[in-house]
Amino acid sequence: MPIKPLIILPDPVLRQVSKPVERVDGALLKLADDMLETMYDAPGIGLAAIQVGEPLRMLVIDLAKEGETPAPHVFINPEVLESSDQRSVYEEGCLSIPDYYAEVERPAAVRVKYLDRDGKLLEMEAGGLMATCLQHEIDHLNGVLFIDHISKLKRDMVVKKFKKLAKDRAAGAKAAGRMVG
Ligand code: NI
Repeated sequence: MPIKPLIILPDPVLRQVSKPVERVDGALLKLADDMLETMYDAPGIGLAAIQVGEPLRMLVIDLAKEGETPAPHVFINPEVLESSDQRSVYEEGCLSIPDYYAEVERPAAVRVKYLDRDGKLLEMEAGGLMATCLQHEIDHLNGVLFIDHISKLKRDMVVKKFKKLAKDRAAGAKAAGRMVG
């Protein structure tokens, strides 16, 4: 199961709206396993398929802490059916926006429907970190990032920083290319 390269801000791929999964088959489950491995390696607690460049409505989550038994969840075509009026604030981060964290307010609880890895239609009522994580990852499927939920001033600063990092990386790669001829 190979670890896949992560798509990093400001790559426009992150703004794509992912397509519904039409068939839960071996290729899809292989992608789910690769996503889990990529997420564990990062390490992270959630990952959407678009973050490894696959515009499919699938995400993986594992909230188990270090030293606990892994508890991988695969959500295919997840959809929020209901959100609580009560809201909560979590400090969020994103594997596509490395080393940046900000407080985001979202509904404290959600009810979602999704297909599991057997293609079975299930519902989950989630609160706490699971509710936040599900909403963060479902946002990814719609091309939405957690920085879209913070102030424009803060968001513009983050995007500017990541644009500069991407430019520096590209310049670095070019310089390395020159050195090897
Ligand atoms: Ni994210």
